[in-house]
Order: sequence, then C-alpha cells, then structure tokens
Amino acid sequence: MELFLDTANLQQIKEVAEMGIISGVTTNPTLIAKEDPSVSFKQRILEIYQIVGGHVSVEVVSTEKDGMIREAEEIISWFPEATIKIPMTPQGLSAVKELSKREIPTNVTLIFSATQAIAAHQAGATYVSLFLGRLDDIAYDGIAVLNDICEIWDVQGYDSLIIAASIRNPIHIVEAARAGADIATIPYNVLMQSLKNPLTDRGIELFLQDYDKFITERQKSMLI
Ligand code: G3P
Repeated sequence: MELFLDTANLQQIKEVAEMGIISGVTTNPTLIAKEDPSVSFKQRILEIYQIVGGHVSVEVVSTEKDGMIREAEEIISWFPEATIKIPMTPQGLSAVKELSKREIPTNVTLIFSATQAIAAHQAGATYVSLFLGRLDDIAYDGIAVLNDICEIWDVQGYDSLIIAASIRNPIHIVEAARAGADIATIPYNVLMQSLKNPLTDRGIELFLQDYDKFITERQKSMLI
C-alpha cells in the first residue's frame, strides 16, 4: 500500500517528503482553504507538485460536467501529470467518462458505498476514494465498506486503484493495508502519530545513556 499525504500545507509536505514515505498528495477545497489565501490556488498546487514530484490530486469545484471538464483542462495546462478529483455525482461520472476517453487520470471522491465505487470504476476512474472516517462518524463501519470494495475488486479483476481516504487514526492505516487498499491518504498529524512508539523513544534514551556510561568509563580507564 502506498502512502499519500492529505494536505495542502507545504511545510507538512516538505517534512514528510524528506522521509521518503509518501508518493503523492491529495488536496480538496477544505484543505486549500486552511492555507494562506495570499497564495493563488495554481501557485499552491504547482508548489505541491514541485515538492512531491509524484501523484497530486486536484479537486474541481464545478457541479456540472462541462464546468468540471473546463477546470480539468485548466489544471492539466498547469502540469500534465495532475490527477483530477471529481465528486461522486451523476454529472461527475459523466465528466470522468469524458476525461478517461482523453486519458486524463481521475480520482472519484466522496465515495461512501461499494455501489458508488463500482459506478466510478465503470465510468473509467483511475482512483476511487472511500471516505472511512466520515462513515465512522455516522456510525457506519468504514473499514467494512472498504473490505467489501477490495473483495469486489479482486473478484471482478477491476484495475482502478482504491484509495482509503478520510483516515482519522493509525488503526485506519493498518486496517486499510490489511483490506488491500492500494493507497491510504493520510492527514499529517495522523501520519506523524503513526510513526511514534514510546518503546522507540525509551530505547533511544537507554542506548544513549549506555553509550555515555561507556565513554565515561573509557575516559576514566585512559586516565589511569
Ligand atoms: O481525502 C479526503 C479527506 O480530505 C477528507 O477527510 O477528515 O475531512 O473526512 P475528512
């Protein structure tokens, strides 16, 4: 399973990209709106792409097919490697079908059920994004839906890539990997939290203490 960062924050992207653990970034209008408004949308997206150099999903805000396609064309003119994020609506599916004919990669977002995922695949989506956390929020089992989708993809031999999105905690990451998601797109805080373990911190502390002890003993024995 690949890891993407779910953010539009350049500092977060730089920090995590340096660790070599992410191969892409997903953004959405809410994430963009959290950042400095003096930076244009285009500039932010291009800076993200420069840092990551891999997958960048950029979401359209039109609700009609033609508007979505116009936005996709505009984004592709900024950098042809862009993946266009399209909402899971009938108009969105029509846009996906058209973009897929033109071989423009799409990421169908706001998927909450296996039937929506199947429809997105059939329309020609490159990626289907299931929102785990938002399902959990309304007392549905997001991981159960992800398991269904992964099983269907295996049975049917579907080739669109499954993104586990709206990840809220490290257990979501583990469960997404266990289910067989191709990608988990993770907020910065959750990703950083998932790297931590108190035993790692304690282990480093003990190694350093022992090393200090060794150096002190060595210095003493050299003095004698
Ligand atoms: O990638 C989807 C994600 O940005 C939505 O996450 O936490 O707003 O449900 P959340």
